[in-house]
Amino acid sequence: MDDYPGPVPGTRIIHAQDDDMKSAVREAAALLASGEIVAVPTETVYGLAADAFNAEAVAKVYEAKERPSFDPLIVHIASARQLEDVATIPAEVEPTLRKLMAAFWPGPLTFVLPKTDRIPDLVTSGHPTVAVRQSAHKVFRGIGKELGRPIAAPSANRFGRISPTSASAVMKELDGRIPLIVDAGACRDGLESTIIRVEPGEKRPEIHILRPGPVTKKELQNFGRVIVEKKRLIDAPEAPGQLASHYAPRTPLLMFDKPEDFQPEPGKRYGLLSYKEDPKAGYLKLHDWAVVEALSPGSGKLPEAAVRLFHVMRVLDEAGLDFIVAEPVSDTGLGQAIMDRLRRASTD
Ligand code: TXA
Ligand code: MG
Repeated sequence: MDDYPGPVPGTRIIHAQDDDMKSAVREAAALLASGEIVAVPTETVYGLAADAFNAEAVAKVYEAKERPSFDPLIVHIASARQLEDVATIPAEVEPTLRKLMAAFWPGPLTFVLPKTDRIPDLVTSGHPTVAVRQSAHKVFRGIGKELGRPIAAPSANRFGRISPTSASAVMKELDGRIPLIVDAGACRDGLESTIIRVEPGEKRPEIHILRPGPVTKKELQNFGRVIVEKKRLIDAPEAPGQLASHYAPRTPLLMFDKPEDFQPEPGKRYGLLSYKEDPKAGYLKLHDWAVVEALSPGSGKLPEAAVRLFHVMRVLDEAGLDFIVAEPVSDTGLGQAIMDRLRRASTD
């Protein structure tokens, strides 16, 4: 990590599959208990974990990620019992919250709730609210149970960069900055959790989507009126949702309303981030691409595209291109979360 003055000489990877799981879980939990930070798998993306009650450990997360301290972290609870340690449940929305938690936890749904005093201000960037979820990943859950305390964990990438969906991707982001990566293979969902805030509403409860993700608008509609927010944090103009560039590869990524809008500059190398390598979509035959990578080769299924998105973005970023052109996917269901990440990755 060229110029990073971090305290850690080398980053170790340990495996947490099958027979190795128990010892990996114990080692990760012991490091967390000692105030260290560890990269751990979740069902969405790899997270960079710290004991959520330990402000010094949480500070190391911000430092390793070079994350500005105005960008709050997600707190992961290991059991429903831990919820009251980190957040309070407003009475007026309690029935809706409980129903949503019963339906989607453990899983990729994060709730923004009033925080308790036990959560250090650094975790929430001084906000009175905390983002909480319960991960469904068995290794993550094992570590949380062994630690016996909630875990603060943002995605394990450097700030503004692509979220890692494998241990090797974490290594590329954080080698030399953290002591340990727990490797449990590729993440199931591949996109960060859906973040919501629930409000009483006039007739029906309102579910505000602050970040689209694996739990879709349609799934949430059974529980209230769903509103997709443009801004992620209320009352915080400098908050992450305002940052135009997020999840960004180093190579400029371009998106067009229609394929014909693409006007290549002569002599430049362009790569195509294709949805399913479908010539009918108009992009494949548009140009003599230096590289083509498909999100969902052949089948064109959104879940597969979501799982592969960040991986494919990394592959293209490492291909020595001048530009990446991303073919849009349909902006519905899981496609909303994919399009959200593509728009934030694009340079315009
Ligand atoms: O799937 C996920 O959510 C992954 C895994 C590791 O759990 N985590 C993740 O964390 O994506 P991170 O830090 O990369 O994104 C968390 C985002 C922040 O950027 C912020 O926008 C939002 O959560 N957030 C955190 N606290 C918030 C709060 N109090 N109010 C509104 N948004 C909040
Ligand atoms: Mg992130």
